[in-house]
Amino acid sequence: MKNQPKSPLTIAIDGPAGSGKSTVARRVAAMLNYLYLDSGAMYRAVALKALQRNISLEDEAAVEALTRETHIELKAPTPDQATAGLKNRVFLDGREVTLEIRSSAVAQAASRLATIAGVRQVLVAEQQRAGQGGGVVMEGRDIGTVVFPNAELKIFLEASPAVRAERRWMEHQEKGELLTIEEVFAEVRARDKRDRERKVSPLVRAADAVLVDNTAMDAEETARLIVFLAHQRQK
Ligand code: CDP
Ligand code: CDP
Repeated sequence: MKNQPKSPLTIAIDGPAGSGKSTVARRVAAMLNYLYLDSGAMYRAVALKALQRNISLEDEAAVEALTRETHIELKAPTPDQATAGLKNRVFLDGREVTLEIRSSAVAQAASRLATIAGVRQVLVAEQQRAGQGGGVVMEGRDIGTVVFPNAELKIFLEASPAVRAERRWMEHQEKGELLTIEEVFAEVRARDKRDRERKVSPLVRAADAVLVDNTAMDAEETARLIVFLAHQRQK
């Protein structure tokens, strides 16, 4: 029927580090008036807690138990924070850790604990709860394959490894973290390898995901392309 409101979609955006998932997903959500959810922030928040408590990431049972007793909340930024580029505000057991979880050390720890099946089980259930009902853009590594395998639109976002490392390096520079581009490249490459090769829910393109390579596209163009695809999928 012509005047019936269009049903809200579930949009899954997966891809490697620095491919532009957070930036693009947030824009897509704003353009469609959808909820934006960054699943990686959850892995990062648990990683920060494990590092702070000196829990060995090798001790899978301890990390899983820690995940079960952790409360993570993702909230939309205030308009001022959004203008400044903030995507999700992240609260770990009630304390804001939005900026703390973005360090390179936390990223590495997150990708290590993301290999633990029990940790994934807890966080995937949280993500499914948070995104139920649709009208959501969720980004991560396994959203289209595991979290929302029935998502109406799945995007696998790619960019060349050099461009992805350069983008991440620029972000560290802006925050005053003095890492060399070689260090950032090595960090991104190590994480990619671990994410692609792990046994549980590896980073892989879902068979029905649209591959979008945004090496030579800016975030705005990429978001517009995804919104165009979303309109096509809407019944
Ligand atoms: O979430 P993910 O690690 O995939 O990437 P991101 O944090 O969204 O993007 C990393 C950086 O690349 C951000 O500073 C974006 O503004 C930038 N970016 C870009 O320059 N061009 C794009 N097409 C996408 C992202
Ligand atoms: O922003 P960036 O792409 O660098 O990383 P992120 O999305 O914040 O994710 C940090 C780490 O969490 C990744 O390297 C993955 O190991 C893990 N992760 C995952 O396993 N599954 C997800 N759905 C999201 C993140």
